[in-house]
Amino acid sequence: MKTMAKRGQRILVTGGAGFIGSNFVRHWCDRADEMVVLDALTYAGNRATLSDLEAREEFSLVEGDIGDAALVAQILEQNRIDTLVHFAAESHVDRSILGPAAFVQTNVVGTFTLLEAFRKHWDTAGKPDDFRFLHVSTDEVFGSLGPEDPAFSETTPYAPNSPYSASKAGSDHLVRAYFHTYGLPTLITNCSNNYGPYQFPEKLIPLMCVNILLGKPLPVYGDGQNIRDWLHVEDHCEAIAIVLQQATPGETYNIGGNNQVKNIEIVESLCDLMDQLAPELPTQPARDLITFVTDRPGHDRRYAMNISKIQRDLDWQPKYDFATGLKQTVQWYLTHRDWWQPLLSEEYQTYYRNLYSV
Ligand code: NAD
Ligand code: DAU
Repeated sequence: MKTMAKRGQRILVTGGAGFIGSNFVRHWCDRADEMVVLDALTYAGNRATLSDLEAREEFSLVEGDIGDAALVAQILEQNRIDTLVHFAAESHVDRSILGPAAFVQTNVVGTFTLLEAFRKHWDTAGKPDDFRFLHVSTDEVFGSLGPEDPAFSETTPYAPNSPYSASKAGSDHLVRAYFHTYGLPTLITNCSNNYGPYQFPEKLIPLMCVNILLGKPLPVYGDGQNIRDWLHVEDHCEAIAIVLQQATPGETYNIGGNNQVKNIEIVESLCDLMDQLAPELPTQPARDLITFVTDRPGHDRRYAMNISKIQRDLDWQPKYDFATGLKQTVQWYLTHRDWWQPLLSEEYQTYYRNLYSV
């Protein structure tokens, strides 16, 4: 294994108040001399998630948009940032179908703005070798797999199918171009579905946990047979940390859990875990809440990641087994009602009614 570089000690984390970003901030914060989170605090961003870190001298959270070039330039310069880890995005496929404009604005134009600001900052600093711009992307850029297709590799052609995945593909292409054209030291990671603590309760796993706790129907799209490759968020954060420290600029890495599961199997497992961990809930068995609903338009059937490159080159492996990670996640939502209850706002209810026609 290669030696760990001392990289990322002055780090800007975009989208650090969201699900994966906040988990990464916790994962990385003890290694940083300076850590700035830039987050627009959209519906998906939550200051409360990081409140315990705000007292730390080396930590700051700036509320702002990655598309604000002057603000980004100021943060990079004033904090002498050498590493930028870019999580900020509109991240939910369903919202991209309801309203794609914000996805193009944040994911494409916002990423372009960050790249430009970071390029100027890197130029001004004399193009140091150890600066890094790490762009966090998704397996969805590769499209949809049939049942027998091999898993996506780093050389699978891009074939995005939703406005969300198309906007992420656009941002990936820009990052790639900044490496090839300007030599900017960029890295790209493409990861599969994450689960774990602090995920906003409109994605599959937290939505089902919260709805079981509230005794509400569990909306499964279509026939429930769609397959995703699930990875615990801590495993994803560890992979990003390793890529940041060890990878050569210009590289891309696929990250996944080697863990392909059908949606309906996940929902049933969540129901069974809740029956076991919260036997006082009124609807028992929780499986009685499962309701098949109209499918997501253009719903990708199957994703799976071939992770042999990151395993071989950087010696990373997922550590969580799914049963343990899922149980830990259910326990987290059971014991953190104070975190998720305030998120079920009027905006959330309106979104929910629009999406599920209820
Ligand atoms: P999330 O929606 O939970 O968090 C996104 C964060 O970005 C929020 O805090 C939000 O406030 C912030 N944000 C949005 N627009 C912004 C803007 N214009 N300026 C500044 N901040 C802004 O998303 P997540 O699930 O944590 O995903 C993080 C990243 O990882 C995304 O780029 C996503 O595409 C990628 N990804 C997610 C998954 C997954 O399973 N969740 C898997 C692979 C890749
Ligand atoms: O694959 C990585 C992607 O995973 C990330 O790039 C995205 O940011 C992240 O949101 C996630 O996208 P998905 O569309 O896969 O996530 P979601 O949790 O919305 O859905 C997971 C699966 O569950 C998908 O097949 C749709 C299905 N689903 C989802 C919801 C919200 C349902 O059946 N019912 C639901 O109510």
